[in-house]
Amino acid sequence: MTDPITKSAEPASLPQSGSAQRKKKKKKKPEQALLYVQDLNKAYPRPAGLFRKAELSHALHDVNFYIRHRETFGLVGESGCGKTTLAMCILRLIEPTMGRVLFDGKEVTTLRSGELRQLRRRMQIVFQDPYASLNPHMTVRDLVAEGIEVFGLAASKHSIDDMAGTMLERVGLSRDAMTRYPHAFSGGERQRIAIARALAVSPDFLVLDEPLSALDLSVQAQIINLLDDLQQKLNLTQLFISHDLRAVQYVSHRMAIMHLGRIVEMGPSSSVAKDRFHPYTRALFTAMASAPSEGGDENEPRKLPIVNALADEISRGCAYASRCERQEERCHRERPVLREIEVGSHHRVACWQPYLES
Ligand SMILES: Nc1ncnc2c1ncn2[C@@H]1O[C@H](COP(=O)(O)OP(=O)(O)OP(=O)(O)O)[C@@H](O)[C@H]1O
Ligand SMILES: [Mg+2]
Repeated sequence: MTDPITKSAEPASLPQSGSAQRKKKKKKKPEQALLYVQDLNKAYPRPAGLFRKAELSHALHDVNFYIRHRETFGLVGESGCGKTTLAMCILRLIEPTMGRVLFDGKEVTTLRSGELRQLRRRMQIVFQDPYASLNPHMTVRDLVAEGIEVFGLAASKHSIDDMAGTMLERVGLSRDAMTRYPHAFSGGERQRIAIARALAVSPDFLVLDEPLSALDLSVQAQIINLLDDLQQKLNLTQLFISHDLRAVQYVSHRMAIMHLGRIVEMGPSSSVAKDRFHPYTRALFTAMASAPSEGGDENEPRKLPIVNALADEISRGCAYASRCERQEERCHRERPVLREIEVGSHHRVACWQPYLES
C-alpha cells in the first residue's frame, strides 16, 4: 500500500507499541487508513489592539498524518501548540483555513450539512474537563441517551433506556446512575459518563482531548485502562491528545510530537520514545522524567514547559532553533520538513541536526 500523503510504502502490519505490543501477537492483514489529514492549516483572526493592527494568528501549519482503522494515534505537545485546534478542524467544529481532512474516503472539509451530520455520529469527542463538558441540569440517562435520540438509533423509549444503561455498564458504572445528575459523581466517574455519552452512538472514531488532565493520578490509570479496553472491544480508531508522554506512549500505536502548530517528530510510539531524534522530543521526555518540584503536589498532572519562539524563526527557520542545543546557522534560515531517517522505519523527524546517536 502507498500512503497518499507521504508517498512511501507502508508496513505490512500496524506498528506495535504500548498495550498493542502486549495484546496483539497474531499478524494481521494490512489496514487502510480511516483518516487522512493533508496540509492542514488554521489561522485565527487576532483583533486589533491599542498598539497593534488586526492580524492572523497561525495555530496549525501544514499538518499531515493518517490514522488507520483500529489504531490509536497519540498527539503530544505543550499548552497552546494547536492540539485542540487540530481536533476541532478534523471534526469540523471549526473551519480549517487550508488543507483537507478525509474520513473513510469522504472529504470532511467540503461536506454539506446533511452528510456532515451523518459523519458526526461516526466521529465523537471526549473533552478534557468532565465538570464543564456535562450539562449539570441533565440526568445521566439524558446525557448518555441524547445522541441515540438525535440520530434515531433506537425506536422506543425502552430500548433507548436499555442502550444507555448498557453503555454505562460498559464504562464501569451501574444502571442506577441513570436517574442522578453529574454533580453526584467524582471526576473519574464523570469522565466515564462523558465516554459513555460519546460511545452511545457507536462511533468509529473517537477523539480524546486531554481526557486525563483534570483527574487525579490514581484515577488517570483507571481511565487509561478503560479506554484501552474499550478500544479493543469496540474496534475504535482513536486520536489521543495529551500532555502526558507516558500515557500517550502507553495507549498509542503511533504518536506525533507537535511544536507551535507543526509536527516535528512522528512514528511508532516505541521508536519515538526510544530514539527521540528531535531535540524538542528529548526536552519533553526529560521534563517528563524529572521529579515534581519540591513542595509540588504528586497528584497534580505535570505540564510541559511552555516555550515561545521568536517571530523571525517561525516565519523562516525551525521554530525551536533559538533554544535548541544543536542549533546551527541553517536552522535559523531554512525550515526542516518531516523526513524519514531510515527508509521503511516510518519514523519521521523535522530537524537539520537530529540525534542519530542514542
Ligand atoms: N478561538 C480562538 N481564537 C483565537 N485564537 C485561538 C482560538 N483558539 C485557540 N487559539 C490559539 O491557537 C493556539 C492553539 O490553541 P489550542 O487550544 O489549539 O492549543 P492546545 O495545544 O490545545 O493547548 P492546551 O494544551 O492548553 O489545551 C493558541 O495560541 C491559542 O491561543
Ligand atoms: Mg487543548
